[in-house]
Amino acid sequence: MKELAKTTAWQRFAQAVEWADRHAGHLRILPAAGLQVDLSAQAWSPDLERAAAGLLDEQGFDQARAALFAGGIVNWTENRPAWHTALRSAEPPPGAAEEVLAERARMRGFVEQANSANLYRNVVHLGIGGSDWGPRLTLEALGSDTNRRTVRFASNIDAHAIEGALAGLDPHDTLIIVASKSFTTAEPLANARCALRWLSEAGVERPHDHVVAVTANRKAALEFGVPESQIFLLWDWVGGRYSVWSSIGLPIALGLGLDAYDQMLAGAADMDEHFRSAEPPQNAPLQMALAAVANRSVLGFGSLAVAPYDARLANFIPWLQQLEMGPLGKTATRDGSTLDVPAGIAVWGMPGTDAQHTFFQWLHQDGQGAPVDFILCAQPAHDLDEHHRMLVANCLAQRAALLRGKSYAQALEENRAAGLDDEQAGLLAHHRVHPGGRPSTLIVMPSLTAHSLGALLALYEHKVFAEGVLWGINPFDQWGVEFGKALAQSISRQLDDPESLSAEYDASTAYWIRELAGR
Ligand code: F6P
Repeated sequence: MKELAKTTAWQRFAQAVEWADRHAGHLRILPAAGLQVDLSAQAWSPDLERAAAGLLDEQGFDQARAALFAGGIVNWTENRPAWHTALRSAEPPPGAAEEVLAERARMRGFVEQANSANLYRNVVHLGIGGSDWGPRLTLEALGSDTNRRTVRFASNIDAHAIEGALAGLDPHDTLIIVASKSFTTAEPLANARCALRWLSEAGVERPHDHVVAVTANRKAALEFGVPESQIFLLWDWVGGRYSVWSSIGLPIALGLGLDAYDQMLAGAADMDEHFRSAEPPQNAPLQMALAAVANRSVLGFGSLAVAPYDARLANFIPWLQQLEMGPLGKTATRDGSTLDVPAGIAVWGMPGTDAQHTFFQWLHQDGQGAPVDFILCAQPAHDLDEHHRMLVANCLAQRAALLRGKSYAQALEENRAAGLDDEQAGLLAHHRVHPGGRPSTLIVMPSLTAHSLGALLALYEHKVFAEGVLWGINPFDQWGVEFGKALAQSISRQLDDPESLSAEYDASTAYWIRELAGR
């Protein structure tokens, strides 16, 4: 494979980015599945649009996207599809339809039966990573006091998490969901054993009847004691980060209702259709990916800040961290050679306006700063108009300030107008200079609903897929995480038996294994 930076397509793209307008000279708002994605504050020019088309051709974008939707082997290091689009389609494609529809119907049946029999006032969902963030984010974003059930989450192996999740619940009226695609992950299994003890100690006669498993490993769930009728399946072609669209979404259906669950799938399916059919210049996920590649690989930004101006979306940030940083934190390309342009983006953030009082100073005046994704709902779910007006004003103001900046001459003028003498005005003006021209994207949701949330998540999923194609890396594997998991298992064994400490560890790790063993 030709090295990316040496291709003519890349060189044209990089040059066009350097020369493009970065001060929102063009209004560029792309409607997508009910959302509006404003890319006006990202680099753009007609030349860049042409260069981007060349890069997409060079990297085989059309073929890769077709393969994604057709269930082709897009996860080539693990030799499998990443077919999450099939999970949310009203009419899943033939290769997946039978199993997807069957599991969907089984899950529905379970929820309907629980509802009609008034079962399980409480649900405790035990998963981690992709088996946790999607449902957790959704319940936090869309949950309210009128929910049918209390739904809690515990993911961490730190027992404070499971203790907190179970505290105060009536074990006789609680359903435990063990969500683990592999059913071998240490955290959900340890937490599930803890929950089973809690059920038994409270006198629940058949504790396993209160447990549901969502997994691709039916055998392991059966061995764990989960009744067969309470095992819901997903498949190896569902990546963990994309599993909220499978039965991993069960707590959404139990907590928010089946309609909400269906609406969320519909929102994502609408975004799929947009991504599949919109022309590149109007294709929101694709344009976000091109902006990300321009910002990372050409303009040199190492991270992306995310600021949802909606407190309900706080968990969108960790959800996005795992979506972006799992897939793109790597440098090996398809033929094994090392990618020769910087790729992979660290994602961080906080809801506005808290973020403004926490780290926005750095965004405004650091020597480099970071691009920002702003997310805003046009219509809130409360009646406090003044609050919403201030929220909107703050979001737009921060974005405008990052874009506009302030020159030395402007700062000097302001200082003089404020009555400072020439010396003070000149000195202080240096501190009040803002470079401006900082890229950002603004996503406006009509309101936060199951449909718009589904569309938002799918928007970013496709953005990440397109970034992977543009860089030529596989966004669906995560060998780094697997490496760490394997080491944790071996250290866990050695903490039990430090005498058998193998020589594989560095001096510091070996010291702490001996020091902390048996505690
Ligand atoms: O963090 C790595 C990972 O494998 C994720 O991909 C996955 O979502 C998570 O662990 C949990 O895995 P599982 O669903 O198999 O328990």
